[in-house]
Amino acid sequence: MNLKPGDPILVLTGAGISKESGLDTFRDADGIWAKHDLADVATPDGFRRNPALVLDFYNARRRQLTEQDVQPNAAHRALAALERTWPGEVLLVTQNIDDLHERGGSANLIHMHGELLKARCLDTGSVFDWRDDITLDSRSPASGQSGGLRPHIVWFGEMPIEMDRIYDALMTCRLFVSIGTSGHVYPAAGFVQQASMAGAWTVELNLEASSGHGLFDEAIHGPATELVPAFVDRLLAHVDAA
Ligand code: APR
Repeated sequence: MNLKPGDPILVLTGAGISKESGLDTFRDADGIWAKHDLADVATPDGFRRNPALVLDFYNARRRQLTEQDVQPNAAHRALAALERTWPGEVLLVTQNIDDLHERGGSANLIHMHGELLKARCLDTGSVFDWRDDITLDSRSPASGQSGGLRPHIVWFGEMPIEMDRIYDALMTCRLFVSIGTSGHVYPAAGFVQQASMAGAWTVELNLEASSGHGLFDEAIHGPATELVPAFVDRLLAHVDAA
């Protein structure tokens, strides 16, 4: 890896980074899509067909996220330390809808698939902090309509958030690191190729080889709480040596 202190870094994370905090991934054997039908709970059509089912699915996940024992782990904290210490930009793009990166201390962060702790007005598109259940009776603070809210989640078939900023960062980063994602969902699964074409060194840190592992310059496999702190230490050793 030919990286100079100060070179821009782009980190992509997925559900695997939050697994050791107690949140399920999607596609592992015990994952969320083994228990729920994606078409029912994570598509605009599913919401139109049965809004109560969709709201309940996200209400359950929101409640779990706000339980006391779900806390950021060593991998979340290591990425926050990298952002604080690296003498260049570290942009964190997460597919996760949990808030564990923020609670771990990351600030330069894009939630490309939305946020569980936010609600969106169906009329105006305004977004609000929201920690309670969203029900068919919840009143939108923007429109005043009851039943006027949906989770602030990007469903399949919808456009992920802040893609222009993400593509700009993919074009300029010198290091692209993908952590805890299976590489099945686009556009995130294609980021490695874009970063690579733009000249970045690309690294996968994942429990097992992802579907696109062969596209990375380097792939290291194991649990995020071990791999990410060790990888951040390796990067910060560059700063100490400079
Ligand atoms: N450490 C590192 N990686 C792990 C760990 C761990 N402790 N546990 C599991 N993993 C890996 C799995 O091996 C898997 O490759 O994390 C990956 C999780 O993959 P997915 O469940 O597919 O999650 P993700 O890639 O984030 O999914 C992308 O799909 O349905 C959607 O919108 C949802 O944002 C999500 C998107």
